This record gives sequence, structure tokens and C-alpha cells, in this order.
Amino acid sequence: MSTTTFTPEALVERLFTLATFTAPGPGVTRLVYDDAWCAAHAWLRDEAASLGLAATCDAIGNLWLHDPALAPGAEVIAVGSHLDSVVNGGRYDGAYGTIAALLLAAELRGDVAAFVTCEEEGSRFPAALTGVRGLLGDLVPSTIAHLADAHGTRWTDALASARARGCASAPAASGERVPRLFRAQRQLELHIEQGPVLEAHGESLGIVNRIAGYRRLRARLEGEARHAGTTPMDRRRDAFAAAAEIALAAEVLARDAGPPAVATAGFASAEPGLFNVVPGAATLGLEVRHTEAHALDALADALAERARAIAARRGVTLALELQSGEAPTPLSDARAAGAGDLARSLGIPHRVMASGAGHDTMAFAQAGAESLMLFVPSRGGISHSPDEHTSPREMWIGVAFARELLARWAAERA
Ligand code: GLV
Ligand code: MN
Ligand code: MN
Repeated sequence: MSTTTFTPEALVERLFTLATFTAPGPGVTRLVYDDAWCAAHAWLRDEAASLGLAATCDAIGNLWLHDPALAPGAEVIAVGSHLDSVVNGGRYDGAYGTIAALLLAAELRGDVAAFVTCEEEGSRFPAALTGVRGLLGDLVPSTIAHLADAHGTRWTDALASARARGCASAPAASGERVPRLFRAQRQLELHIEQGPVLEAHGESLGIVNRIAGYRRLRARLEGEARHAGTTPMDRRRDAFAAAAEIALAAEVLARDAGPPAVATAGFASAEPGLFNVVPGAATLGLEVRHTEAHALDALADALAERARAIAARRGVTLALELQSGEAPTPLSDARAAGAGDLARSLGIPHRVMASGAGHDTMAFAQAGAESLMLFVPSRGGISHSPDEHTSPREMWIGVAFARELLARWAAERA
């Protein structure tokens, strides 16, 4: 690759082009297998080709961007991130790590290969990290084929239409895992921090040695739909009022537990959803996160107990369904120590830190790869919002550092 392509300008121009692949509305909305996602996928494959890389798709639409000489099934140093976004997200989450990886793979070549996962966010279908699980050969597509998006489209049909547009290879055999194309022995993900720590301390780089785990629970509450004008307050079994009290209880529990505990009620709905009917049913989405397994268990248990008590007191039935979860995941201490030494030797202000957000890297680490993440600062700590921002200079510090780190990793393996 010519040195003129490995530049901050090359990064920023591509990052902002990737942000144009979005559904209408504020910020970036690029959900797995939708039109914007398919267009971004095709563009990325063309970009890889223009940089002399091969672009190889797997059966669910994950991409490897790699030296054409790399043998199928080879053991690689994998660097990358995800192509999908949340609804009305920013230009940097996933995209920064994806474009950085494209440039790094083109610059370093050999066994340094870029991965781009099809889905990480869980924004379209009720499952997250499906892309990386497929990439690692740990996903049987038939187990998630039935999952439906908000419009009732099934995962398997959405994938089939993306495949028809050239965004995935031939389907895995029925009941079989997604075939793994390369084996990641070491893995790196560049990402914006998505929190306020680096900016607050004036540091350029976060070396991530641990990723918080989470539990996502769907609460279904059922009471009695009654006339809102005539039913006295002491004779109601209002399912939505119970949901609201549970949402506030989740907030109190996480505040009382203290950082890094967090709890969020991310969505709620009332049925039948009219001004003049006391809600007879409600659905509430609850999430808790923590970096320590025992503390995550305690937080989830306490929330379930509080929710049951609130429902019982209000005469409402409660069904709590665990929709998904990830264990808190340690990354490679040895790789984090090596990255810290390199940052010190280069005079880059940095810190070793945990990630509160979930990432594809969790799955690589859980699968036994030597995994590491690098964070660059997020202005105002803002993410999952159109207001995400990291300056070109800050982004490039991360990419240039990753280049040095990956070159060392590659030399160690040679
Ligand atoms: C991913 O962005 C997550 O942590 O939810
Ligand atoms: Mn995200
Ligand atoms: Mn992300």
C-alpha cells in the first residue's frame, strides 16, 4: 500500500463515507441485512479491492479483508469491528474500528487480516454478537433463524435477501455451524471509548483489559384493563404503573451498588395504549451490567426480587424472561502489559481500563484468542447518539499506535 493511503485523511474520508450508508433519520441507522447495511457492505468490498485486498464473505455476511495470498483457514492476527449500528447512532461506533482495520490490513498485510462483523448491537433482531459468533464458527444459524425484527421479518429471510445481493456466501448446511474462514490467534479491536474517562483525564489511549457483562430481561406484566375515568385509584391493577415502578427500582439498585454497576429500562409499552384505559398489560426491557461476575449476579437477582415484590403488591402478574446475557470477560493481561510498555515508550498518555460497553472482542476472548481493545476518547463521553465525536487527531493516535502494536505482534509470530 502506498504510504499516502495510510493517513488520517484516508481514515476520515472513508469513515464519513461509511456514515452515508444509513436509513433516513438522525444519525446513523444501519441494521444488519437492511438496505443501508447491504450498500455499506458492497462499498467496503470495493474499498478493500482498491487497496489490493481480497474481501471474503462468510455464510452470514461477516467479512474478512485480507492479503490475497493468505491461505484459506490460516491462523491470523485479526483486527476489526462491526458494520451495524444502533437506531439513530453515531458515525464512530463500530465504523472507526472497521475503517481503521481496513487501512491496517492494507498497510501490514501478511497474516494481519481485517474482520468486519455483520451484527454486534442486537438492534434489529433480539440477539446480539451473532456476527462474531458466526465468524468464530460458534453459531448454528438454525437456532436464530426464527427471530423476527420489529416488522415481523425473520432473521433467515433477511439474510437470504442480503445473500441475494452478494453480501453473504452460500448458506451453512442445515443444522451446521457457520464455517470458519480463518482462525484468530490474536485479535485487536479499535473503538471509541463511548464514556467520559479518557477525555476527563486528558489521555489519548485506553488499553482495555476487561469488558463488563450484562443481562437483558423482558418483563411482561398483566393486570386489568379498566375505564380510566371511573375506576377508583384503589381498585386498579395497572400493569404500566407497575412497570414504571420497576424501572425506577432498577435505577435505585444500580445507584446504591455504585460504579461500575449500571441498570437501564430501555423500552416500555402499555396495552391497549389509550388515554382512557388503565393499562391491562405492559412490557418492559431491563438491562443490568457489571465488570465482576458475582456483582452482576447480585444485581440481576436483586432486580428480579424487587420486581416480583412490586408486582405482588400491585396485584399484577409478572413474567421475567432472560433474553440474552454475556459474562464479564477478561482480555489478555500479557497483551495489555505489552501495549502499556509500548505506549510508555512512545510517550502516549494512556490508562488501562475496563469497558462498560459490550464488544465483539468478548466473543474472541471467550473463544480463547489473545484479545485486546484500544479506546480513543469520546467527546463528552457520548455514544449511541448522533452526537458521537472523536477528532481526526485523536482517532489517528489510535490507528498509528495499533500499527506499531500489530507489527510487533506479527514479528513475534514470524
Ligand atoms: C454495544 O454497544 C453494547 O454494549 O450494547
Ligand atoms: Mn454500540
Ligand atoms: Mn461498537
